[in-house]
Amino acid sequence: MSVLKQIQESEQYITQQLNASKPTIGLILGSGLGILAEEIENPVTISYSEIPHFPQSTVSGHKGQLVVGKLQGKQVVAMQGRFHYYEGYDMQHVTFPVRVMKQLGVEKLLVTNAAGGINESFDPGDLMIIQDHINNMGDNPLIGKNIDELGPRFPDMSEAYDRELRKLAEAAAADLNLSVRKGVYVGNTGPTYETASEVKMLRTLGGDAVGMSTVPEVIVANHAGIDVLGISCISNMAAGILDQPLSHDEVIETTEKVRQQFIQLVKQIIQTM
Ligand code: HPA
Repeated sequence: MSVLKQIQESEQYITQQLNASKPTIGLILGSGLGILAEEIENPVTISYSEIPHFPQSTVSGHKGQLVVGKLQGKQVVAMQGRFHYYEGYDMQHVTFPVRVMKQLGVEKLLVTNAAGGINESFDPGDLMIIQDHINNMGDNPLIGKNIDELGPRFPDMSEAYDRELRKLAEAAAADLNLSVRKGVYVGNTGPTYETASEVKMLRTLGGDAVGMSTVPEVIVANHAGIDVLGISCISNMAAGILDQPLSHDEVIETTEKVRQQFIQLVKQIIQTM
């Protein structure tokens, strides 16, 4: 079956479950941040396992369902749990849900993640509006024959994170009296955290934060003509900055500590989106 047909079948299944209008805003919720989906009103929850052609989520701390409903008066579709390249999915599977969101009618995508701080002026618990990214994954979801119905062969990435949405996010933070960082997200494959030397290299290359997600989804969203906003929760300082080892527990702990702030910010953003 063609990818196009798969996307359509996924979308049709989801649409059949909905009792309200289709979502125009997509949310991809990263490690420890999936809790935001619980704020969605009149939610229709669809497990990934039910949706034809959808991959399945495996990592702990990720739920694996779509939640569709109203948030701040806007109809949204949230991914509670995403697919990571390091889990062994290929780039097409990692980004399949973004294709389905587009088919559903999503025009704007808010992507969140936990990331290690490369910028030494950052602190764990900071929220960072992603200005741009560096694809350091050595792969690209658009490699292969281009499907012209989905987007152009050579998509522009000069404003991968929409300027207006970034401004809107900054204004939302200011409204809440919340100080936020801005910076460049580096996407690594993982699953290892970086070595201290790799972090030094990424800093030299212009990175402010590093994580193991987001870049593939953002590439496909741009290909599909979806406007993207990205927010990282700096869950830890990247390797070599502090004299302590990194752990997934620390990542989860920090994101839980700041999740009220994060939820507030995302809700404020969606309200003005
Ligand atoms: N490196 C890569 N990915 C991450 C990190 C990190 O330090 N923290 C959370 N995700």
